[in-house]
Amino acid sequence: MSNNLLKGKRGVISGALNDQSIAWKVAEKCVEQGATIVLTNAPVAMRMGEINALSEKLNAKVIAADATDMNDLDKLFRESQEVLGGKLDFVLHSIGMSVNVRKGKSYTDLNHEWSKNSIDVSALSFHKMMQVLYKQDAMADWGSILALTYMAAQRVFPDYNEMADIKAMLESIGRSFGYHMGTKSKVRVNTISQSPTWTTAGAGVKGFKEFYDYADKMAPLGNASAESCADYCIAMFSDLTRMVTMQNLFHDGGFSNMGMNPAILEQ
Ligand SMILES: NC(=O)c1ccc[n+]([C@@H]2O[C@H](COP(=O)([O-])OP(=O)(O)OC[C@H]3O[C@@H](n4cnc5c(N)ncnc54)[C@H](O)[C@@H]3O)[C@@H](O)[C@H]2O)c1
Repeated sequence: MSNNLLKGKRGVISGALNDQSIAWKVAEKCVEQGATIVLTNAPVAMRMGEINALSEKLNAKVIAADATDMNDLDKLFRESQEVLGGKLDFVLHSIGMSVNVRKGKSYTDLNHEWSKNSIDVSALSFHKMMQVLYKQDAMADWGSILALTYMAAQRVFPDYNEMADIKAMLESIGRSFGYHMGTKSKVRVNTISQSPTWTTAGAGVKGFKEFYDYADKMAPLGNASAESCADYCIAMFSDLTRMVTMQNLFHDGGFSNMGMNPAILEQ
C-alpha cells in the first residue's frame, strides 16, 4: 500500500541487520512510500552480507559506518547527500548493543568498561549522529530524526539490565538535541518507544519470551509488530507530523498505561 507519503524525500536508515530488524522494515516502507534512501550499518554487520540483498531490492546504496566513530559519521552523511542529491529529510537511529547483556552479566555485577562501550554504541551514537548532521547543516528544513527506545527507561524491567539507563540517556539526547535542531532548521527529533519485538537485539535480552508474552497479554492491542513500528516511523517522517518534536512516543499497544489486565491472571 503506497500513498507516496515520502515522495521526493531523502533519508538515511541505520541498523538493518537482517529481515527481522525493525530498520529493515522501515527501509522497505520508506521506498514503498516514494523516498530514496541510503542504508548504513557497522562494518562488522556488513560482513554478514544480508544488507546487500536489501540494498539491491531497494536500489539503495550502503555506506558502512561505525556509529561511535565521528570520522565514519562525517563521511556517511557527506556521501549520503551526494548520492541522494541534496539535504536529508529524515534519519533513523536504530542501533543498540550491550556486551554485558550479551555475556549474561547481571545488573549488580556489570563490567563497567563494557558499559562505557554500551553507552557509546547505544546512546552517545545518537548525539554523535546529530552533532555531525548539525555541523554539516545536512538536514533539510522541516526534516525528521527518530531513534528507537524501550520503556525500561521509565519503569523497571530487571532483565533489561544496563540498557534501561542507556535508553533513558538516549531519550534525553533526543529532547536536548531536539531544541537545537528545531531552532536551527525546524527539524524535529523524537524517540519511539517500541513493544518487545523478535529481532537479534530483542531476543538477546534474558527471558525475552516471557517478557514478550507478558507485554502481549497486558497491552489491550497486544504487542506492536516491527511492521507497525515501521508504519509509525513513516508517519513521523512524513509532513503530517511536522509539529511533533522532543517527544518520547509510546508505540506499544497501550502497554505503558496499563496497571493490571485480568487477562494476565486467566491461564
Ligand atoms: N527488539 C526489541 O524488542 C526492541 C524494543 C524496543 C526498542 N528496540 C530498539 O530498536 C533498535 C533496533 O533494534 P532491533 O530490535 O531492530 O535489532 P537489530 O539487532 O536488528 O538491530 C540493532 C542494530 O544495531 C547495529 N549496530 C550495533 N552496533 C553498531 C555500531 N557500532 N554502529 C552502527 N550500528 C551498530 C547492528 O548491526 C544492528 O543492525 C535498537 O535501538 C533497539 O534497542 C528494540
